[in-house]
Amino acid sequence: MIGCGSMGGGMALLFAEDGMQVALSDPSEEAMDAVIAKAEQSGYNGRMTKHKDYDSLCKSLSSPRLLIFSLPHGNVGDKVLEGLLPHLSRNDIVLDCGNEHFANTERRQEKVKNTGIRYVGCGVSGGYQAARAGPSMCPGGDVSALKELLPLLEKVAAKDKAEKPCVGIIGKGGSGHYVKMIHNGIEHGMMSAICEAWGIMRKMGMEYEEIGNVFSQWNSEGELRGTFLISIGADLSHKREPGNDGKAKEDPNNHPLVLSEVLDKVVQDVTGEEGTGIWSNTEAIELHVPASTLNVAHALRLASAFRGDREKANDAFDGGFPPAQMDINDKTAFLEDLRKATYAACLASYIQGFNIIARADQEHKWEIDYSQVWQIWRAGCIIQADYISDEILAPVLKSKPSSDDLNLNFSSRVAQDVRRCFPALRRVVGKAIETDQVVPAISATLEYFKIISGTDLPTSFYEAELDYFGSHMFDKKGDGDKEVKKPMEGKHHFEWKPATSQ
Ligand code: 6PG
Repeated sequence: MIGCGSMGGGMALLFAEDGMQVALSDPSEEAMDAVIAKAEQSGYNGRMTKHKDYDSLCKSLSSPRLLIFSLPHGNVGDKVLEGLLPHLSRNDIVLDCGNEHFANTERRQEKVKNTGIRYVGCGVSGGYQAARAGPSMCPGGDVSALKELLPLLEKVAAKDKAEKPCVGIIGKGGSGHYVKMIHNGIEHGMMSAICEAWGIMRKMGMEYEEIGNVFSQWNSEGELRGTFLISIGADLSHKREPGNDGKAKEDPNNHPLVLSEVLDKVVQDVTGEEGTGIWSNTEAIELHVPASTLNVAHALRLASAFRGDREKANDAFDGGFPPAQMDINDKTAFLEDLRKATYAACLASYIQGFNIIARADQEHKWEIDYSQVWQIWRAGCIIQADYISDEILAPVLKSKPSSDDLNLNFSSRVAQDVRRCFPALRRVVGKAIETDQVVPAISATLEYFKIISGTDLPTSFYEAELDYFGSHMFDKKGDGDKEVKKPMEGKHHFEWKPATSQ
């Protein structure tokens, strides 16, 4: 296990728990000692060794060696691989379990190709606790390596309700890391929608615990049932500081709600350590996939991170546009609308994520096995959503879907839910906008479903303007979609403003 931080350390313990011998490597001896101490506390004595250099690490392993990376993405992985290579032999496997960019994974796969060393990119989801208890894992790369690895990974991966492991062979190349990256893009869309719903409930005058109870209810039945992010939302809404006497008790002054003390600032490392959310959105844009729920979720997170800038703009705007208290006549009915609107945004996040994966899969020829993508997201991961998995994804993904099937917007089952939720979504957005609530992902979802299914978009005017100033050319009504293969064939141009003679 190379990298003994919270994820690597957790996975090392998980493997040891399963009876395996684990050799640790980390620049911090303290980090390795902490993992070994935990192993000993848990009774896995003698199953872990620590190594200060790659020579000792690699000599301690039988062949073919399995080297698991749990490292930050980018240069670190390159340096570690570079350092390891002289000590590795043909058929050894590197299983990269970090949140690595798929292009780095593919570059490394290419680098080791002629050495016979096999480099597998494996997304690991569920956070540090799942790393210890059993994460959802999505490995991609060399098929021979994946087949060798699978029995091992199946032992430690999360298990769904039918006790099936949430791991499987995803596809070739960097597909494993790609799918994990999009998992995180979906995660961010869902988290935005859920926090926006929470903000609305706060402005409806609801207390933290009451909102927690609503989330519990949402998680127990209906379209949001079994949604991990809703379930933890219910849990964290009730958590209080231990207080001075060290015990959580009912005195609210002594035991404030932890959530009430959390600042509205979701930082990500913007100094060059780009994260999966950024990559997911970059990919959507580069692959020409409309993914507005994911895009604006990311924008909200970015704006939130720059708290100082928001404070300055707030001064400039003389107090800005703070959300007003909402005056809701029928609270039960509005909460039901809000539940449906939140579901619509979670569903849209999934749809957009799959559209990005499908487009990339076609481009990179990864031959992704979508039934495995379905399986790995059944449990253990952050975007686990039982209703979406059972009702929406299973019918499509379990039987070898065509690329058309993968566009869930063409599915009659999705259409049924979108049509049912759309009026509620419209009412929530309308009311939220009237009262200046912050609802980027929820309102972008309303727009998304309108634009992806609209056949009379205002973009006729957009196209005409482009033709006016840029001779962009346009299709005439009735030309349909025939431009796909040869973009300019059959296009029209009109001299909107005849050139003045010189
Ligand atoms: C998971 C999470 C996890 C997390 C990352 C990214 O599946 O366990 O997706 O990978 O989200 O730590 O964090 P950022 O969202 O800050 O990039």
